[in-house]
Amino acid sequence: MFHAESILNWTEETIIIGLFQKNNHLKGILSILDEQLEGQISDLVTEGDISPQKGAIAKIYPLGRMSTKRIYIAGLGKEKEFTFETAREVFGKLFKTILSSKIQSAAIAADTFITEETDVLEIGHAIGEALSLSTYKIQDYKHKSNEPEKLIEQITVISEADRADLLAALRVGAVYGKGTNSARTLVNMPGNILTASELANYSVKLADQYGFECEVLEKEDMEKLGMGGMLAVNQGSELPPKMIVLKYQGKEKWEDAIGLVGKGITFDTGGYSIKPKDAIVGMKTDMGGAAAVLGAMEMIGELKPEQNVVAVIPSTDNMISGNAMKPDDIIVSMNGKTIEILNTDAEGRLVLADGITYAKQHGANVLVDIATLTGGVIVALGTEMTGAMSNDDSLYQQVLEASEECGEPMWRLPITEKDIKKVRNSKMADLNNSPGREGHAIMAGAFLREFAEETPWVHLDIAGTATSSKETNLGPSGATGIMARTLATFVERFVPAEK
Ligand code: BES
Ligand code: ZN
Ligand code: ZN
Repeated sequence: MFHAESILNWTEETIIIGLFQKNNHLKGILSILDEQLEGQISDLVTEGDISPQKGAIAKIYPLGRMSTKRIYIAGLGKEKEFTFETAREVFGKLFKTILSSKIQSAAIAADTFITEETDVLEIGHAIGEALSLSTYKIQDYKHKSNEPEKLIEQITVISEADRADLLAALRVGAVYGKGTNSARTLVNMPGNILTASELANYSVKLADQYGFECEVLEKEDMEKLGMGGMLAVNQGSELPPKMIVLKYQGKEKWEDAIGLVGKGITFDTGGYSIKPKDAIVGMKTDMGGAAAVLGAMEMIGELKPEQNVVAVIPSTDNMISGNAMKPDDIIVSMNGKTIEILNTDAEGRLVLADGITYAKQHGANVLVDIATLTGGVIVALGTEMTGAMSNDDSLYQQVLEASEECGEPMWRLPITEKDIKKVRNSKMADLNNSPGREGHAIMAGAFLREFAEETPWVHLDIAGTATSSKETNLGPSGATGIMARTLATFVERFVPAEK
């Protein structure tokens, strides 16, 4: 990265320039270029070969009239409508385009992307993030794809802005992208490889890397602590359950800790309330909440915010055997509440209940849980919008703002008194784990609320958003790594309520 001298002296073979839509009048770097290329750029814009429309990418060749070989001109749409989100999308598309042309380095004229609303630091962040997100490759198990692939080796960012500020912004973007990719990789891993034990090993390594305190509870510990939800879900499994705890201390004293609780079901068959065969396929992704929490912890480890965070990941698979839990069973969760099992496929809330209780015991006084919890949230909100529920408007607002900042939209669903009654409606126990299909995303939220109790809490249901059936500008189909960035941003910006 360096301060701009005339673009005509730039020596990079590939240059990337942004073009806003405004009366076809070229200014700044583009007008210098246009002059050098004898008005050809204006002509191409007039004729529509170079389009300022959002998402358009044109490639021109100076053919010896400049030291650069090729110039990509990215349409940015109207300046007033240009956001951080659009910038990420545009850069994602650009990086994918140059990668598919086997181009391994490029220089970006960052100042051509600036508007009154978006400064160059946001652009730097967008570049860093888009570079890692858009070029992410699924780690598969094919023999062929193990051959070394061409990667983008260097992106030079050229700007008049302060070098240190811009470098910092690029780094934050890259950290966010990388943490999201780590979450994606975990979610894409099959259940026979990413078991609860492997998830625990991964977490221990992460903790070593960043100096987090780490605790992994074994089955015997869970028995001692009365984690009936964890034990019930694990009962049908051949593999041991793990309750994974990571603590990041960013403050002098261990107070005001933020609890992040992520559902870590490494495979969900549904248990005796078995899923139909087509719905079982893909259930390796049922640890998407755990992955988001671990991705966020990686970002937190890198960026070191002044906050205390306790991450709790209840992890097991949900299997069937002669010993598995059954409908009608009654279990006792860690906080003493009894639960009547009506559906063994509503297992996420059982492990999260203990996870939430344990996070509180570790000093969490605000809680965010995150889980691929219900098919109901997909019916309600589709696959672009994470479902949210909360018992605290001001905490909800803080999570919402983080999600907006990261371009990971969420939408709040209500929990009414009637909903609370439904989860408390059991002849045999304090709660039931599945009051029926009506509003069942809300039923899951209402159930978890019984364990958050008085602690301010937000629940995020990412069943629809944790995976994508389509490739996008910012990643392949498969795991999205959704909400890792939102959680990290929420932690960084968090302001405790006044006592
Ligand atoms: N893991 C599923 C939810 C899910 C569905 C995640 C689709 C990703 C994609 C969860 O454990 C589950 O099975 N939920 C049940 C709840 C029902 C029994 C109340 C569901 O959504 O059908
Ligand atoms: Zn289930
Ligand atoms: Zn599940």
